Amino acid sequence: MQIDKPMLRVLSGQSVWPPPTWLMRQAGRYLPEYREVRAQAGDFIALCTNPALAAEVTLQPLRRYGFDAAILFSDILMVPWALGQKLRFAEGEGPLLEPVTDAAAVATFDPSRVAARAAPIMETVSRLRSALDRDYPSTALIGFAGSPFTVACYMVDGRGGGEFPAARLLAHRDPVLFAQLIAVLEASTVAYLEAQVDAGAEVLMLFDSWAGVLPPDGFERWVVGPTTRIVAALRTSRPQVPIIGFPRMSGASLPSYAVRTGVQGVSMDTTMDPVWAAAAVPASIAVQGNLDPLAVVAGGAALEVGARRVMEALRGRPSIFNLGHGLVPQTPPGNVGRLMEIIRSDGE
Ligand code: CP3
Repeated sequence: MQIDKPMLRVLSGQSVWPPPTWLMRQAGRYLPEYREVRAQAGDFIALCTNPALAAEVTLQPLRRYGFDAAILFSDILMVPWALGQKLRFAEGEGPLLEPVTDAAAVATFDPSRVAARAAPIMETVSRLRSALDRDYPSTALIGFAGSPFTVACYMVDGRGGGEFPAARLLAHRDPVLFAQLIAVLEASTVAYLEAQVDAGAEVLMLFDSWAGVLPPDGFERWVVGPTTRIVAALRTSRPQVPIIGFPRMSGASLPSYAVRTGVQGVSMDTTMDPVWAAAAVPASIAVQGNLDPLAVVAGGAALEVGARRVMEALRGRPSIFNLGHGLVPQTPPGNVGRLMEIIRSDGE
């Protein structure tokens, strides 16, 4: 294990300054070279399951900006896809799935087949690890999955949108069925992430983008419980690999989520005060975040002031500079370059 990589040092509890940096959605539509490959691939799932093209778009932002981590180019909805749920990405509409509404649908899902069906994604991971070892030896490779609750939101509602009325209602109306779906996703996620580690991933991240829509008892049952069990399984089977959790919009629950789930790092969303979070999360757990992605679109003073405010909050504790959510398509690529200059010139 190459502990000299800044990302791995921070996730083992050391402070590194300036903080290692990567950005959620660092590969994507804001880059003209991504749009070119995306057009060549045809649809989005074809891109995610084409190891040569998926590895290429993962590496594109490293060539421009030299980030401290590369994140596998894929999507959290590739787990439902590997479970056999019908999925497509409609232009301008986002993901569309055949909604899961009953026990018969859940019974068709077999977690033991996920890693094999996701073999092209594992091939992408393995190509990426070779490319990093050769060309970017201090850059860490992040593998990822969605957390069960967030993935279940898309599986039950069949689409995005941020409210997920069908999934939230199902959790209240038929908690036994919802728990069965969550259990399928737990087992699938562990197998899928173990396969990513075996293919070369050095860090894992769990995206729980919609954790914040739940009431407190729901957050406990559908976010903290499944995440704790997934982290425990992975820490037992692949103990060398640190895990970052991202319970987006979970507010004051962030520190207890971090402690109780057993993660090595926790990601702060845009709304969170990083000064508060940096103090409230124990120093043995890295914090990651949390510049507003729209400050990167705006550039100028918004970017300078926003970036420096986050930097000051992260100083003196194990931290990773990132955004509070993903880069958006209208981001000017030059503003990402400016952000990297701001971060890297600190402390010189
Ligand atoms: O961060 C990265 O650079 C790695 C790749 C990555 C993607 N999606 C690529 C993607 C990662 C880590 C994700 C995670 C993901 N996917 C999440 C969790 C993080 C978050 O954003 O909250 C969620 C909720 C999804 C589900 C998803 N995928 C939606 C709702 C959409 C449509 C909205 C959109 O931005 O287009 C996607 C599509 C998607 N995933 C794109 C990319 C680059 C755009 C697809 C395209 O190129 O047409």
